Amino acid sequence: MSARVADLPLLVAEGLSKDYGARIGCRDVSLKIFPGEVLAVVGESGSGKSTLLGLLSTELAPDAGRVRYRLRDGRLADLAGLGAAEKRLLMRTDWGFVRQNAADGLRMTVSAGGNVGERLMAVGWRNYARIRAEATDWLGRVEIAADRIDDDPRAFSGGMRQRLQIARNLVTRPRLVFMDEPTGGLDVSVQARLLDLIRSLVAELGLAVVIVTHDLAVARLLSHRMVVMRHGRVIETGLTDQVLDDPREPYTQLLVSSVLAA
Ligand SMILES: Nc1ncnc2c1ncn2[C@@H]1O[C@H](COP(=O)(O)OP(=O)(O)OP(=O)(O)O)[C@@H](O)[C@H]1O
Ligand SMILES: [Mg+2]
Repeated sequence: MSARVADLPLLVAEGLSKDYGARIGCRDVSLKIFPGEVLAVVGESGSGKSTLLGLLSTELAPDAGRVRYRLRDGRLADLAGLGAAEKRLLMRTDWGFVRQNAADGLRMTVSAGGNVGERLMAVGWRNYARIRAEATDWLGRVEIAADRIDDDPRAFSGGMRQRLQIARNLVTRPRLVFMDEPTGGLDVSVQARLLDLIRSLVAELGLAVVIVTHDLAVARLLSHRMVVMRHGRVIETGLTDQVLDDPREPYTQLLVSSVLAA
């Protein structure tokens, strides 16, 4: 994909480090994310991808380093310096988080329509009929039939749950969405359709996305730029096609060739 990049970064991470006791989580990671850009974070299991995502989204506190985010007023604010209320507002209005396990990102005992509608209520929608109409529209966009709107996600298949989670996260049109292995654990055919859906919604809404995946095909399909992690560090970064077609680091070469051989 060709990059659609505005001039000013949306998020700037500098020197992020986090250990878990003696275990390395993430070491000295710096990166920028620009509006409308999809950044893939790849690397083997345990390389620190989820830890990095946790640090970027402030779910984890870094041992060192900082994350700055461009607020809607144009200010680049240190996220550690935001108050709890400011941070909650940011999460509700500006950010989405698509979890690998849909049950972690949905309210399983609330109807599908409710899962989407409550996000609209959180940003100030009050009219029940409009909320329901918008929720119905979004269920359609993620290919969930309108007659399932009152069903709980517990009654949904894995792929449907993941599509519902995407609707729940995108309905408020966030500026930045974090995704951790959003297609992991799904059948290959279900994965392919979900990836197509994510790809078209991201392009249509002009979202910035940080997507963690161990699947280089996913990175190739969705991302403009990628970072390769190993032992908590970013060892290679660049435009996705460049990194995949002409990897510089031996480790990346190994990753690419083992996928091609598979
Ligand atoms: N809560 C935790 N307590 C202790 N160690 C942790 C914790 N979370 C992660 N780790 C360790 O930190 C390192 C990085 O883990 P992380 O989950 O970030 O890797 P990952 O790249 O997301 O792996 P995967 O692809 O398996 O999800 C690993 O060695 C892991 O065992
Ligand atoms: Mg992980």
